[in-house]
Amino acid sequence: TDIEKGTYPHFMLKEIDEQPFVIRKIIQKYQNENDEIKLEPEIREAMKNCDRIYIIAAGTSYHAGLLGKQFIEKLANIPVEVHVASEFSYNMPLLSEKPLFVYISQSGETADSRSVLVQTKKLGHPALTVTNVPGSTLSREADYTMHLHAGPEIAVASTKAYTAQMAVLAILAVDTARAKGIELDFDPMQELGIVATAMEALTDQKEELEQLAREYLPTTRNCFFIGRGIDFYVGLEGSLKLKEISYIQAEGFAGGELKHGTIALIEEGTPVVALATQASVNYSIRGNVQEVEARGANSMIISMKGLEKDGDAFILPHVHDLLTPLVSVVPLQLISYYAALHRDCDVDKPRNLAKSVTVE
Ligand code: G6P
Repeated sequence: TDIEKGTYPHFMLKEIDEQPFVIRKIIQKYQNENDEIKLEPEIREAMKNCDRIYIIAAGTSYHAGLLGKQFIEKLANIPVEVHVASEFSYNMPLLSEKPLFVYISQSGETADSRSVLVQTKKLGHPALTVTNVPGSTLSREADYTMHLHAGPEIAVASTKAYTAQMAVLAILAVDTARAKGIELDFDPMQELGIVATAMEALTDQKEELEQLAREYLPTTRNCFFIGRGIDFYVGLEGSLKLKEISYIQAEGFAGGELKHGTIALIEEGTPVVALATQASVNYSIRGNVQEVEARGANSMIISMKGLEKDGDAFILPHVHDLLTPLVSVVPLQLISYYAALHRDCDVDKPRNLAKSVTVE
């Protein structure tokens, strides 16, 4: 590959640092000279005309899809289902009358997603692919493509593609809302600009985040991530990052589900990362933190400015409520990176994993 690490020790760290630039690039690429959203009119029509969206994806792209559902349902008022590609055909849902399939894939080559695409094309349903690789299989075989503009992602653990996917899905949601005549008091480009600045501040805090990795994850065998609402979905991604590169057994849970099983695993010193970026659940997630702490957990609270409390481990710059996942994931990426580094793991090429999985 021609892509170089430059002064970076790993592609993953370089790609984490590129996120503010990628977000700014997306703002630029999806805006026309009149500051309107620039999108192929056919995509706008397809979104406007469908009665339900089925997002199909795998891995990190699936996690981005879970948040894409929030954006589309909350802003554009269209019901969305999110499916793991490999499971779709076994659990084929009853489809609505006018479904639109949205394939989210960094590489555009994931075989499980492609096999669903082949199936839904056969049924005659329209398909939109959101990918970092226009010209990839999923892009060529779908009716429409939205490009992530993230630049090549080399590290196996996906970072900048995830935040790019969420940014593009947020823009798509707003465009659809506008096309449907829904009044929003949400300017996506302005809010994404604030996100880019926040990401920059976060990537400047590497020393603090390395310290957190050292303090909380030195020799631990496992680690739990909890959150409520959209923080739960970011916790899923945080746990995936940590497990795939550091081999620490990591799981993400909804705060309210803890008491239904996971809390049995909490022992003296078990690290629990809790996200608190939403005012509406700040109180209840902190209640969950007390529950695990009472059982000996070593909890690391990552909160959003304005919601912080004494003792929180890390405070995120304030961004729009809906876009918090784009910033809350950054410290999780960096903590995972440092945890893996401290364990001498091969950060860019974790064992047993491939960058794109082209077999079903
Ligand atoms: C592999 C990669 C992951 C990625 C997943 C889906 O497992 O290691 O980083 O999230 O495939 O890939 P895609 O290219 O479809 O987003």
